[in-house]
Amino acid sequence: MNSEVQRAAALLSAGELVAFPTETVYGLGADAANPAAVAKIFAAKGRPADHPLIVHIPDATHLERWAREIPPEAHLLAEKFWPGPLTLILKRHPDVPDAVTGGQDTVGLRIPNHPLALELLQAFNGGIAAPSANKFGRISPTTAQHVRDDLGDAVTLILDGGPCQVGIESTIVDLSGKRALLLRPGMLSAIDIGRVLGRVPLSPDDPLAPPTVRASGMLEAHYAPRTPLVLMPDDSLPIALRNAIVQKERIAVLATHPAPFEMPQVIWHVAPAEPTGYAHDLYANLRALDALGCDRIYVQKPLGQPWQAIYDRLKRAAAGSGAFV
Ligand code: TXA
Ligand code: MG
Repeated sequence: MNSEVQRAAALLSAGELVAFPTETVYGLGADAANPAAVAKIFAAKGRPADHPLIVHIPDATHLERWAREIPPEAHLLAEKFWPGPLTLILKRHPDVPDAVTGGQDTVGLRIPNHPLALELLQAFNGGIAAPSANKFGRISPTTAQHVRDDLGDAVTLILDGGPCQVGIESTIVDLSGKRALLLRPGMLSAIDIGRVLGRVPLSPDDPLAPPTVRASGMLEAHYAPRTPLVLMPDDSLPIALRNAIVQKERIAVLATHPAPFEMPQVIWHVAPAEPTGYAHDLYANLRALDALGCDRIYVQKPLGQPWQAIYDRLKRAAAGSGAFV
């Protein structure tokens, strides 16, 4: 076995933090059964202590250690999509530390689909609590360098698995109540999940949905760059850019097509025109555009169901950046 992975597993057992790659984003991991280790995650991220963490497990046989009253739907989804970018919210096992669940009666669980993460989970042979390895409220990391930039010395070891394949966080489905709820959209879509469950999970703001629990991915402001970010319908971009140029503002643009004409003061970045590629590059693109120090970032507003999860992240990035939308 990879000796870095062995060192990482030993550090986790000793109550230290380890950052590791998953197929979605990099995670900041701690031994989920050790409340003192879990407390270090909150300190490193600057995250409020009542925000629950996802527990990553090596295989589905570990479900019973962390959850109780597991419904058949959970086994169906686990069989179909694990390892993969899906987190299930289930009723917690009584032994799960409050530090992990934020004191809620539920726990988030997933098996990530990344060879290094799986090797680490098998070597550790337990649950690894891990949020995205970024400062609270900022853009999630999709490379080891992003983690270093954000958290630096706060992490003892960063396992480098290259850029994350999916690029945005897992889909979260709450199965702790009577009806499945989609707490956070992801690249694994509500339709994919609906095909397995026989009906699509409800959004928490659906009138039929019961009042929902907290999830920091659901906070309005999240995944935010420091530069004000504005979502723009494609046909409003030219006029908005013209106005900005008149105001002598420097603008960075993220769009799925090239600039229609040369514009001074505008740095135009072309993103992949299909959702899979767009999501893969999204956080690296936002970080790169943020680093330009422009007055604003204009992002072409995506349209349509396949873009749901991307639109969700962009909306929160806009809200978190403090720009007027
Ligand atoms: O793709 C991912 O899910 C990544 C990788 C590292 O696995 N993790 C991630 O973690 O995005 P984090 O902490 O940044 O986001 C986890 C989300 C939060 O919005 C949290 O509130 C929610 O999951 N969550 C965790 N446990 C929950 C629970 N018991 N009930 C409701 N929401 C929960
Ligand atoms: Mg996060």
